[in-house]
Amino acid sequence: MSDDPLPPPPTPAPGRPTVRTAAVIPAAGRGVRLGPGAPKALRALGGTPMLVHAVRAMADSRAVSLVVVVAPPDGAGEVRSLLDTHALHGGPPSGSRGSTDVLVVPGGESRQESVKLGLDALPPGYDIVLVHDAARPLVPVDTVDAVVEAVRDGAPAVVPALPLADTVKQVEPAAAPGGPEPVVATPDRSVLRAVQTPQGFDRATLVRAHETVTDDVTDDASMVERLGLTVVTVPGHEEAFKVTRPLDLVLAEAVLARRRLNDGF
Ligand code: CTP
Ligand code: MG
Repeated sequence: MSDDPLPPPPTPAPGRPTVRTAAVIPAAGRGVRLGPGAPKALRALGGTPMLVHAVRAMADSRAVSLVVVVAPPDGAGEVRSLLDTHALHGGPPSGSRGSTDVLVVPGGESRQESVKLGLDALPPGYDIVLVHDAARPLVPVDTVDAVVEAVRDGAPAVVPALPLADTVKQVEPAAAPGGPEPVVATPDRSVLRAVQTPQGFDRATLVRAHETVTDDVTDDASMVERLGLTVVTVPGHEEAFKVTRPLDLVLAEAVLARRRLNDGF
C-alpha cells in the first residue's frame, strides 16, 4: 500500500470540462387538441401519467442531473405528489443510473412563458439546458444524449430533426376553417426538417433568447435563430413524436406495448 493521500478528483477528458445539464419540461398545457379530460401531461399512457414518462426519459440520460417540471398553473402541488409516488429511474433497483433531482414550478399561459418560468427556477451550476415537451413522453435516451453531446461540442443550440414524409404546401389561409385554400408554393422537401425535443442549449444563450425575443414562437431554437446564432440539427427519432391528437395516443400506447414486450415485462 502506498501512503498516498486522498485519491485525485476525477479528471475530465482533455478539452472536456465537466458541465452539468438540466432539463426543463414544459407540462402546463391543457391539451385542447387531445379533447376533453385532464391536462395532457397528466393523462395516462400505459397506466402511468405522460409526464412521468417524459421525466424518466430525461432522468435516464446520465448527463441530466436536474429536471425542472413546469406544471399547470394551479396544479404544481398535484404534480409534485404525482412525481413523488412514481420511481424516476426504470430498470432494476440496483441500476447505477444515479439520482436526478426534480423541481416543480407553476407554468404560464403560453409554452414560451412556461419555459421561461422553468428557466427562472434553474439554480446556478447548470451550463447546458434541455427543453423537452412533456407531450413527447417516449423519446429514446440515445436521442437525448446526442443532443447533449452536440451542445458539449460547442453548438449554442441543437434540435433533433427528421426528414418530412409528406409534401408540404404553402397556402393562402382560408378565412373560415375548412374552406378551400389557394396553394402559393411547394417548398423543396429535401431541405425541410420536422423538429422535435429535447432541444439543447448553452444556458446563457437560451436565457438571453428568452429575455430578448418577444414574438410568439413554437419552439425555443427559433428564438436563438432570431439572435442571429446558428442552430444545428442531430438525427431525431420517430418515437419522439408529440402526442397532440387522439390518434397519437393510440400510437404511443402501441410503442409502449412493444417496448414492454421487448423488455420482457
Ligand atoms: N405547454 C406549457 N404551457 C403552456 C402551453 C403548453 O408548458 N401554456 C407545454 C405542453 O404541456 C406540452 C408542450 O408545451 O408539453 C407542447 O405543447 P402542445 O403539444 O401544444 O401541448 P398543449 O398546449 O397542452 O396542447 P394543445 O395546444 O392541444 O392545447
Ligand atoms: Mg399548445
